[in-house]
Amino acid sequence: MDNPFKTLFSKISIFSGGTDSAVGIDIGSSSIKVVEIKKKNGKAMLETYGAIALGPYGALDAGRTTNLPIEKIVEAIKEVFKQSGVENTVGAFSIPVRSSLIFTVSLPIQIKETEMANIISTEARKYIPVPITEVSLDYFILPKKEDSFEDMNRETDDSNTIQKSVEKINALVVATQNDAISKYHSIARQSLLDVAFFEIEVFSSIRANFEHELSPVLLIDFGASYTKLSIVEFGMLKTYHTIDRGGEDITSSISSSLSIPFSEAEKMKKEFGLFGNPVEKSLTDIIRIHIDYIFSETNSVLIGYEKKYNRTINKVIFTGGGALLKGLREVAASNFQAEIEMGHPFSKVNAPAFLSKVLETMGPEFAVALGLALRRLE
Ligand SMILES: Nc1ncnc2c1ncn2[C@@H]1O[C@H](COP(=O)(O)OP(=O)(O)OP(=O)(O)O)[C@@H](O)[C@H]1O
Ligand SMILES: [Mg+2]
Repeated sequence: MDNPFKTLFSKISIFSGGTDSAVGIDIGSSSIKVVEIKKKNGKAMLETYGAIALGPYGALDAGRTTNLPIEKIVEAIKEVFKQSGVENTVGAFSIPVRSSLIFTVSLPIQIKETEMANIISTEARKYIPVPITEVSLDYFILPKKEDSFEDMNRETDDSNTIQKSVEKINALVVATQNDAISKYHSIARQSLLDVAFFEIEVFSSIRANFEHELSPVLLIDFGASYTKLSIVEFGMLKTYHTIDRGGEDITSSISSSLSIPFSEAEKMKKEFGLFGNPVEKSLTDIIRIHIDYIFSETNSVLIGYEKKYNRTINKVIFTGGGALLKGLREVAASNFQAEIEMGHPFSKVNAPAFLSKVLETMGPEFAVALGLALRRLE
């Protein structure tokens, strides 16, 4: 998929493309993931990949979500680069979706290309709750006949937002907090890395997980702090929603319900998941409470979308480390009237055959990092 963004104020995309080697760096809330790829004979080849838990950098257990100072993140990046042998020093970085706001604006069809940036910037002020000088904007013109994107997290006022008229064109706008961008610049600088570009994580994940799906697909990223829902049509984001619940919440519940340390709970979650632990019979129920909550929120988003656009979502793709929870797929199959698929982003790159099984299971965790690297090679 082509990178859909044109840069307005050039803070997000610095330089990209035209290179033979790329490294994607995903600083997640619980761990950093890196993937390095190289272009050989026109095809992307996997060079190396690695992950490092952030918890221990804040005196916490692995699996804990963190909000670390820059120096600690830098330490972790240096360590994961060293461990995985990444050589590239120009990184493509993801920015958490919570540092951004995603919405569409409708524009008159006769707008000139040269006026676009200014008009979008003016329109965007209506949507952004902070001064426009505090954000950087990227935009992308949606195909004319498409209905517009709707940010489900916002209450929208029909009079000035969603318009379906063919007289209008819709632009998907991503406003990213400048503070977040500066923070990531500092992280890169202190890690002795140059920045290829920054990209909001959901776009990297979409690139990594999608092939050529045309009908609407729901992508669910099961992260440690959040579950991120993206409804994607023709490879483009149409609706985004965050559920404030993730893998760490599940582990914390197991830990407190069974009175065991977090690290043990994390281990038990990964080993048994929803399939159940013969010794701790309540494990399935403890996990199930969270999964039921996540899926019921997801259902509301799905129903909302299907009603609004009169389209059915036939496919759900799972990504993020939490997608590896045993039995999740089975529960999902009984919850959604849709085909459930596990994302397999590494299928987009060549890799030694002996790695194929492990890469298939690692895929969900590394999707964002790989998606970043893929864009850099485009
Ligand atoms: N086999 C497994 N079974 C269950 N959960 C797992 C498994 N492997 C990883 N996880 C969970 O996945 C989560 C980490 O996923 P991921 O690396 O995608 O999160 P993150 O990117 O750090 O978080 P976020 O995207 O919310 O910032 C952790 O909660 C971890 O416990
Ligand atoms: Mg993540």
